[in-house]
Amino acid sequence: MFDSTRTTALAPDLGAALAGRRLAVVGAGTMGRAIAAGLHRAGALADAALTAVDHRRAGARALAHEIPGAGVRDLADACRDADVVLLCVKPKDVPEALAALRAADALAHAPLLVSICAGVTIAALEQGTGGAVPVVRAMPNTASQIGRGCTVVSRGALATDEHMAVATAIFSGVGRCLTLDERHLDAVTAVSASGPAFIYVVLEALTDGAVSCGLPRDAAMELVARMTQGAAEMVLATGRHPAALKDDVTTPGGCTIAGLMVLEDGRARSVLSRTIETTARVAAGLGR
Ligand SMILES: NC(=O)c1ccc[n+]([C@@H]2O[C@H](COP(=O)([O-])OP(=O)(O)OC[C@H]3O[C@@H](n4cnc5c(N)ncnc54)[C@H](OP(=O)(O)O)[C@@H]3O)[C@@H](O)[C@H]2O)c1
Repeated sequence: MFDSTRTTALAPDLGAALAGRRLAVVGAGTMGRAIAAGLHRAGALADAALTAVDHRRAGARALAHEIPGAGVRDLADACRDADVVLLCVKPKDVPEALAALRAADALAHAPLLVSICAGVTIAALEQGTGGAVPVVRAMPNTASQIGRGCTVVSRGALATDEHMAVATAIFSGVGRCLTLDERHLDAVTAVSASGPAFIYVVLEALTDGAVSCGLPRDAAMELVARMTQGAAEMVLATGRHPAALKDDVTTPGGCTIAGLMVLEDGRARSVLSRTIETTARVAAGLGR
């Protein structure tokens, strides 16, 4: 089994952790909507108030339409009344958003700022908010939308245990939430946040192979997705090394080892490792 000591305990009652809190989701794009939808799906917003903010009112309205009781407001008004500001804008848009909030004095009450923005450091967020706002940096992924996300949170200098409990409750509500030191977040971005895109390419390629062998595409796609899900769950449930699990599938002289030789010829192992390495390097530069 995997060591769970690094995992922040799941809030015993997610609804209670967020009860009475006012959340402002700043940036109602892919991730803002995914997290809001996941929290709603988990029932975590029953006693919380959610407000959506976006450059494009249509995006904020669409988010609010999906979440009963959610409102739409301007950036400063929403954040001035928020206990938690969930910053979900692109990294390049962070300085402008924080500058607007400071100019409007909308963070004077020191709400918890939870940023999911890749490459934007805690130091930059603390500086951009004037140095008196508690910050938690998080890196979730799009599977938050269906409650199957995996998120890492990192604590800023002013964030208390209670702030961490709130941030952890948010992301535990949409999947699994771990706490790690911020120095790991670029690697986490490559694996957790960008990783789904890499796996979708693998799923598509395996499906194409099956179609080429004559399987109907819908059946091929479902089989590939369920096989991938099962393989991932085997790693998590058994805690065994993937190489050992691979060996279980590999009969001497059989078809699997023949297929693995083709993967090795294509240097799939090094290509995938380097994909993560390059992604992490680019992620590190996004906030600059
Ligand atoms: N997508 C992922 O899989 C993923 C995973 C993990 C983390 N993240 C992080 O999540 C953040 C958001 O990514 P995303 O894919 O959700 O981006 P997105 O779909 O472009 O959504 C961002 C939204 O924020 C709006 N916005 C920008 N500046 C704003 C401001 N000052 N006030 C209000 N709204 C503003 C944008 O409007 P305009 O387009 O009109 O500017 C856009 O609708 C990024 O920092 C990214 O690093 C993304």
